[in-house]
Amino acid sequence: MFLLKTWRQTAFGVFGYMNFTKSAFLEHAKQFKPEDMEKRIDGKNCVVTGANSGIGYATAEGLASRGGTVYMVCRNKERGEAALSEIRSSTGNPNVHLEVCDLSSVNDIKSFAARFSSKEVPVHVLVNNAGLLENSKITTSEGFELNFAVNVLGTYTMTELMRPMLEKAAPDSRVITVSSGGMYTTPLTTDLQFSDGNFDGVAQYARNKRAQVALTENWAEMYKDKGISFYSMHPGWAETPGVAKSLPSFNERFAGKLRTKEEGADTVVWLALQPKEKLTSGAFYFDRAEAPKHLTFSATKGSHALIGSIVDALRSLAKIS
Ligand SMILES: NC(=O)c1ccc[n+]([C@@H]2O[C@H](COP(=O)([O-])OP(=O)(O)OC[C@H]3O[C@@H](n4cnc5c(N)ncnc54)[C@H](OP(=O)(O)O)[C@@H]3O)[C@@H](O)[C@H]2O)c1
Repeated sequence: MFLLKTWRQTAFGVFGYMNFTKSAFLEHAKQFKPEDMEKRIDGKNCVVTGANSGIGYATAEGLASRGGTVYMVCRNKERGEAALSEIRSSTGNPNVHLEVCDLSSVNDIKSFAARFSSKEVPVHVLVNNAGLLENSKITTSEGFELNFAVNVLGTYTMTELMRPMLEKAAPDSRVITVSSGGMYTTPLTTDLQFSDGNFDGVAQYARNKRAQVALTENWAEMYKDKGISFYSMHPGWAETPGVAKSLPSFNERFAGKLRTKEEGADTVVWLALQPKEKLTSGAFYFDRAEAPKHLTFSATKGSHALIGSIVDALRSLAKIS
């Protein structure tokens, strides 16, 4: 097991260094088609979580600049309002709105979903971007480990509760979940709240991000007849407040080598704009192309068979019927 863990970390480090930095983005961008991003989405409703900062901010701005009606879901009213007014002014799009919701709380997500559903707005794009890497073990007021609460249970609850609104926009609706390349270092596990051994925030974050990729695969299969598509993606390594706070030494070591938040958000915006026929529901994307979900010899593939029991556990924790 020790050797396998070491191999996964090493494979991830080498693969990441070669592919996830700013220079790799610029190299990959040579293959990008500018016309892919020249689309307008006027009249389409987009919900972006964690939209006041980093990749979520750049996503909300990218969608608003193309005419989309954007609902920014943020946990802090003041930070949300500041970002909202910056995006309205940089894009000239008045159809950008703020919704306050703490994604670490199932009850708060339920209140948000009830409020939002009363607007009777069809949702064309849901971007599950809000996320964090908390290094210490913190338990939320609802009794959940914090990384899990936001990254997995929050993503799951939000997506399930938005489903009726996504169905209203079908067959044009899609869910894009922002995972991380860090998920390559770990298989899927049913130990959702890190009960085994000493808590390791980086390992827990990787597990959460693996779960998002497996959930996306599962949703694609479960809802394939509902006209909703599901994609997961990872942004590479981008300079954001989240990275500076959670991974200060990585941030320092890679100073000048990290992607901008817009480069991190590029594939999210691309996935929102492309015709569905070009994309594969359930797939994992990176730099505007389908990416592998598993690294060579990492023995992570078989673990995805656990997703059924994980979904059962999430449904029960979120008390969703
Ligand atoms: N940057 C990278 O290199 C990188 C790499 C791989 C994956 N990612 C993923 O990209 C996504 C965005 O991260 P980022 O790097 O842009 O970090 P960031 O700047 O910290 O942005 C994270 C966003 O999520 C929000 N958020 C956190 N906890 C929340 C909660 N309980 N309820 C509602 N919103 C909450 C944050 O709100 P506050 O501002 O209020 O905290 C912020 O708006 C995350 O899912 C992250 O895992 C990033």
